[in-house]
Amino acid sequence: MNRRDLLTLLGIGACSFAGAALPRTAEGSTEGNAAALPFPSVPTPLPVPSDGLDADGQRRTYARIELEDRLVLPDGYRADLVAVWGDPLADGRFGFNNDHLSLLALGADRALLTVNFEYISARSWREGYAEAVGGELPFEALIEALAARDGRVDAGTLPADDPLLESVRRVAEAAMADLGLGVIELERQPGGPWRRRPGRFDRRITGLSGWRDPAQRLRSSGPAAAVFRRRERLGYDDGLGDAIIGSFANCAGGETPWGTVLSAEENLQNQVAEAVHADGSSVSPAARPFAYDGQRLDGLGNPFGLAGNKYGWMVEIDPRRPEQAAVKHSWLGRFRHEAVAVKAVAGQPLIVYSGCDRHGGHLYRFVSDATIRDPADPANSDLFTAGRLEVAHFDPPASAGGEGRGRWLPLEPSSPVAPLSPSHFARYGLEQAILLPHSDRLKPGAEAFSSDAAVAAYRRQYPTLADLYPGEGEERMGAILIDAHLAGCAIGATPGARPEDTVIDPASGDLLIAFTAGGGSDDGRADPAIFQGPQGQSTWPYGWIMRLADEGSAKAGAFRWRLVATGGAPWQGGMGFANPDNLCIDRLGHIWMVTDRSTTTADLDLFGNNSCWVLPSRGPHAGEAYCFATGPMECELTGPCFDAGESTLFLAVQHPGEGHGTSPSPEAREAQAHRLVDRSGRPFEQLRWVPLGSNWPSGVPGRPPRPGVVAIRRLAGGPLLEG
Ligand code: FEO
Ligand code: CA
Ligand code: CA
Ligand code: CA
Repeated sequence: MNRRDLLTLLGIGACSFAGAALPRTAEGSTEGNAAALPFPSVPTPLPVPSDGLDADGQRRTYARIELEDRLVLPDGYRADLVAVWGDPLADGRFGFNNDHLSLLALGADRALLTVNFEYISARSWREGYAEAVGGELPFEALIEALAARDGRVDAGTLPADDPLLESVRRVAEAAMADLGLGVIELERQPGGPWRRRPGRFDRRITGLSGWRDPAQRLRSSGPAAAVFRRRERLGYDDGLGDAIIGSFANCAGGETPWGTVLSAEENLQNQVAEAVHADGSSVSPAARPFAYDGQRLDGLGNPFGLAGNKYGWMVEIDPRRPEQAAVKHSWLGRFRHEAVAVKAVAGQPLIVYSGCDRHGGHLYRFVSDATIRDPADPANSDLFTAGRLEVAHFDPPASAGGEGRGRWLPLEPSSPVAPLSPSHFARYGLEQAILLPHSDRLKPGAEAFSSDAAVAAYRRQYPTLADLYPGEGEERMGAILIDAHLAGCAIGATPGARPEDTVIDPASGDLLIAFTAGGGSDDGRADPAIFQGPQGQSTWPYGWIMRLADEGSAKAGAFRWRLVATGGAPWQGGMGFANPDNLCIDRLGHIWMVTDRSTTTADLDLFGNNSCWVLPSRGPHAGEAYCFATGPMECELTGPCFDAGESTLFLAVQHPGEGHGTSPSPEAREAQAHRLVDRSGRPFEQLRWVPLGSNWPSGVPGRPPRPGVVAIRRLAGGPLLEG
């Protein structure tokens, strides 16, 4: 990553994106801020360009380091715990693995914080359950009983009086009670920290809302609701029509200008069956058994007979209206929704971007039929009920690292089937089968095609999406939306590098997308013509940030794109962080970014704990990246968002201690050796001490780690990055 690319990322360099530029000098730096650093950046585990050290200083500083099991902030800043797993909340509790945060001001010192609860980390959930929730669950008995069954069971095959069924249901119900969304009320004394003040807006939607009380069920909008209502179907019927039980896998999200919150259901496949039939109906819940072996806990939909086609959607809730049902908007497609970005401009259609976080997942755009009159009008939620869903096809840039073009392909019955071929990957030395909707349309899910000839035969057999998805009208459109990922593969959508967060840059209207990692898995593989490392590597596991600008009217469907920031070690051409995930932009235009490196992938150990970075947009430090925070052990920092005055940054600490659970003592640590390179290019060795497990937030050895949300402010008061 060179400085010019970073300036491009920030919209202030030699960037050709229309409207992206802020005032700038001839050097590409902007007018404005003082020469002081935006904040005293926190220590990083590897040398980075912004650490202020010369080569000798880097060698001395980084020769021996110790990671810490705490949230490390710059001097002069502090974090207050706002809520933690297990806190009472409405008719339930503050859930596990908090992710997206959205703050809605009710007044100067009152606000609603909407929080996503994504998934269960089996080890730390079990270790913390008694402290956080209270009571006992049959963890050991269940692990033992399932050991003879390879750690899994289809609850539907168990007799009603089987004690195993009771144990499965108790554990699964407790886990589902820790997933979904919550709304908490906050208040503060003038100049003081934000604190919870339980009130009438407090709300909890869990993974099982509506399971016991039908009045708590969620609604569905758009064509998929017609599929849900249909009596005749190829697959499973949950008997609920277009009503839906619960929401889970809620990862990132976003806000609308009319005050509602969008919550993205991501890794549905961990809890319910993802594959669907040609008519959009689900396969049996038996296809995704309940599974628990102490290290993993999933298949949580199985004991309750949940239909897989009702998860993997974008959910809209109005935090100010707790009596109003949450709605899953099917025009936004069903896939592993990571995040969402909303563009609402008066006189234009509503535009909603979202990515599917899997290797080979696509970037999507919804365009409403109707146009917006007033972006703040709550009636704008109706715009989600009629429009079109499109998926991005990227054309390679003319030169490496340059600007590319692309177009949005509509997901509609008349769209031609035109998938990538295996030879596309073979040109980059990669063996990659192409996953497409199964060619036997009586079989659900995907089929892998390993030769160009097989793909060509498939195209002849199924020339358009209408040939793959039978039916008429809303039912056919609903089936395409339910199977959006495979339908997107069929029409030639570009397989992405795990798109995570998406945000609109308010200065330009462009879209910023965090692509967390290039490479492949059983799910697919990022297009090596698009997602390349700094030296043209076809696999680059450290991620990028992309800037994308739509061109012309929404109908034209054209865009330009550029990879503008690259993860990785500085001596490999990266910026010093790995795996960008959530993004947000403050009113100065600075980009705040949190990382999600896998804590179980040793190759990523170099990057230490997950962290929060600021990329200043103006002043002498524009074009550099500063580490604002590093998280406690084995966690991920998620959901960055500000209060109205930007004097508080809210962050969620997700899955502390995910790998090793509760840390018994400070002596529980391991030594790692890392080979680093200083800024002059000379390699050197580092001895690093790494605590195993976590005790966050208590900090007391032996006490379990618990996910929670913090509010970060300056001790001196005032905006986080001014003065
Ligand atoms: Fe839940 Fe893709 O992060
Ligand atoms: Ca994420
Ligand atoms: Ca992630
Ligand atoms: Ca994660």
